[in-house]
Amino acid sequence: MKKVKIFADANLAVGTVDPNLYGSFIEHLGRAVYEGIYEPGHPTADADGFRADVIGLIKELNVPIVRYPGGNFLSGYDWRDGIGPKETRPTRLDLAWFTTESNQFGTDEFMKWCKKSGVTPMMAVNMGTGTIKDAAQLVEYCNHAGGTAISEMRKANGAIEPYHVRYWCIGNEMDGPWQIGHLSADEYGKKALEAAKVMRWANGELKEDNGTTWGSEPLKLVVSGSSNHEMKTFPEWDRVVLEHTYRAVDYLSMHRYYMYDEDRERPLEDFLGSADDMHEYIGTLKATIEYVRAKVRSKKRLAISFDEWNIWSVTAPRREPLWKSAPHLLEDVYTFRDAIVFAGLMNTLLNNCDVVKLGCLAQLVNVIAPIMTEKGGGTFKQTTFYPFRAIASTARGETLRTFSDSDSFETMYGAARCINEAVNHDKTTRTVCASLCNYSQSAREVELELRSFGALKATSYVEMAESDLAATNGFDRPDAVVPHEKELPAVKDGKVTLTLPAMSWSFVTFRY
Ligand code: AHR
Repeated sequence: MKKVKIFADANLAVGTVDPNLYGSFIEHLGRAVYEGIYEPGHPTADADGFRADVIGLIKELNVPIVRYPGGNFLSGYDWRDGIGPKETRPTRLDLAWFTTESNQFGTDEFMKWCKKSGVTPMMAVNMGTGTIKDAAQLVEYCNHAGGTAISEMRKANGAIEPYHVRYWCIGNEMDGPWQIGHLSADEYGKKALEAAKVMRWANGELKEDNGTTWGSEPLKLVVSGSSNHEMKTFPEWDRVVLEHTYRAVDYLSMHRYYMYDEDRERPLEDFLGSADDMHEYIGTLKATIEYVRAKVRSKKRLAISFDEWNIWSVTAPRREPLWKSAPHLLEDVYTFRDAIVFAGLMNTLLNNCDVVKLGCLAQLVNVIAPIMTEKGGGTFKQTTFYPFRAIASTARGETLRTFSDSDSFETMYGAARCINEAVNHDKTTRTVCASLCNYSQSAREVELELRSFGALKATSYVEMAESDLAATNGFDRPDAVVPHEKELPAVKDGKVTLTLPAMSWSFVTFRY
């Protein structure tokens, strides 16, 4: 097999990595909130009922921002149900997931939890059953200092100071017929524009037509894009919505889950093609943003908020049982195969960091998540926990443009590269790191040429490689699939040669 050559240069960057690329998501779904982050009575729970063991793992993952409260749940949620004395909060049917919602955890609990977890809150307003008035009043509840009925409600609920929430999603997956209150692109575009307007006004800011703002620190608003690129309305939905809202918002949201499907003609190859497909998807939306920018004559460049991404092979129940509170839903257990595809998706996010400025791994705890918990018991780290932790902690600064002569293989999405990589350069720590997936069936030698950095020294090198692609972690085998440390490779004349095992993920860091 030929050696694959990858070249990267300190002066050729794709863009700067926004730390928010490593965000995540907590929805009122299954056991994400209840028994996940919130479990009064758990041995590690604090006075607010927040599980300290889970907070510890979230800090280990280096998650900077968390989106809340949904997801599909959002589109039937009345935020007023989740505030005030807990004993008076109503229990409601959640029509998105066919469960009952006790409302024991709501906006104020989330804000407290964010503070304790060291994460920035990213809130979402209901565009399904919710009105633009509900949206504006939630902004008022969170951000207005006091003296009005709504802001005094927050104070009465214990938060004297406003929360100053900056990041807001305007609805969730409104293009999907599964969404409560699903709308057409035109209907949603008009509603989202009006919502954006009144949310900003409730925040005490005014956005002029020429893009300048007046008043309080502006909100960062995310408008809902297509739920995925298989939607019949993609990418027309994105164009129409952006034409309505371009000047009023800051990000276009995109979502995508990839799955391993035994029923496909080439299940493995198709799954391994996910990272390259995600790159194509981002490319189409980037072009759509550029098209609308030209059409509406705006100087502003909208960013992408990839606020739901993950592997979701639908192996765990999605709806059963009916009307239970906090049932075990979407508790997929990730395989080693999932972990290496997951690492490739992270590479794609990095390689598009010029436009993808915010990302949310969906989700964070128990529901298609890197962290799993047991009621009253312990936790375990899924296979995907490890690539996330390594990349989110180290791949900072700039992503470098890579030039690779990797061979490729055929997938349902087209050709995908056997060696999938992302190379990052953090000037502040004088660190260069490379995340490398080998998607071929044999070990491959990769020569990484990083000549422009002068004298480089490898400082860490880990690899995930398993003979059993279906291997998983669990409460009874928490460390079955973990990264293993490798001997540090020598760098000679700016070049380093690594041997990547068949079907593996490797992560190497250097200092100069
Ligand atoms: O993350 C699970 C679900 O996937 C979310 O509720 C929804 O937005 C998406 O379809």
